[in-house]
Amino acid sequence: MKKVSLLGAGSWGTALAITLANNGYEVTLWSALETEITLLQTHREHVDRLPGAKLPDNIQLTTDLEAACRDQELIVLSVASPYVRSTAKQASPFIKDGQIIVNVGKGIEEETLMTLTEIIEEELPQAEVAVLSGPSHAEEVSKQIPTTVVVGAKRKATAEFIQDIFMNEVFRVYISPDITSIELGGALKNVIALAAGMVDGLGYGDNTKAALITRGIAEITRLGLAMGGNRETLCGLSGLGDLIVTCTSNHSRNHNAGYLIGKGYSMEAAMEEVKQVVEGVYSAKAAWKLAQKYQVSMPIIEEVNAVLFHGRSAKEATKTLLCRNRVAEYPDLKWNA
Ligand SMILES: NC(=O)c1ccc[n+]([C@@H]2O[C@H](COP(=O)([O-])OP(=O)(O)OC[C@H]3O[C@@H](n4cnc5c(N)ncnc54)[C@H](O)[C@@H]3O)[C@@H](O)[C@H]2O)c1
Repeated sequence: MKKVSLLGAGSWGTALAITLANNGYEVTLWSALETEITLLQTHREHVDRLPGAKLPDNIQLTTDLEAACRDQELIVLSVASPYVRSTAKQASPFIKDGQIIVNVGKGIEEETLMTLTEIIEEELPQAEVAVLSGPSHAEEVSKQIPTTVVVGAKRKATAEFIQDIFMNEVFRVYISPDITSIELGGALKNVIALAAGMVDGLGYGDNTKAALITRGIAEITRLGLAMGGNRETLCGLSGLGDLIVTCTSNHSRNHNAGYLIGKGYSMEAAMEEVKQVVEGVYSAKAAWKLAQKYQVSMPIIEEVNAVLFHGRSAKEATKTLLCRNRVAEYPDLKWNA
């Protein structure tokens, strides 16, 4: 049996481990957290995060990073984004030349403004790094609910290699050379999802949510194009697709944290209540710095930052957005008269 491993045994690492085990691979699931591995060993199930999703027998659990990195066809990096650099650094001595690694996390590093793939490439120059992203809640993937994602890689052969490993009749994998847009879409949708949660917490309606999704993707697209990405990818599965699912689903921890903030919780209290890493909070500052660096207008991102870090209420932020200067929806479109 061919071997694959996943570094990071949270909801997503575990759901993907189940997918790969069902595809016939010998799977190793690693975590830095002893408690997480003990829990998985005891119940063969992530009882809190993915109740009912049993781990098939061909998944081995370990806290031994060297064993998890040895002789693997593919290594999936599935830790929460704040731990991507430290995990890659720790794994470095055990990663062979040419090892294919696929990042499935979503985020941008605040200090460096690097995407997760760029961070992994910096820490593991001996590896070939790709990304997998799209509208894919772990809760649904672990139950074999039909899902589509996209794999981005520099070389088409690498993207196809990863596509073959993951693809099955309920998990459809597309490929793309546009890594930048895939990573940006995944990271920035978490910030817009916080805003979508806030408007739900304020008791606003579907109109407001639809406005946030469409104006949110307009912002993400402006930044993505300035950074060399493609409109098609930004409006594809990993951009608009993931934005829709994250803004409308109660599986989203970003949406749930935003909801509590809309109800009047502070950012810290909301993160405490959600009890998971709320990645949008980390990506919000990075997104605003990127907007300034590339001189791109990102009013929703600006207001989310004002609410999270500068004491503005969600209600005031909504009013500020609605009362901005009058503009055209897409200023580049030409008028006939
Ligand atoms: N949950 C989903 O549905 C989903 C779907 C697609 C992508 N993602 C992305 O995948 C990544 C992981 O998401 P998740 O839902 O599994 O997150 P999670 O919060 O459930 O798990 C994060 C995992 O990171 C690891 N971790 C935590 N602290 C660590 C530390 N100090 N050192 C090393 N590792 C540590 C642990 O294995 C932990 O389980 C995120 O970037 C997320 O955006 C999640």
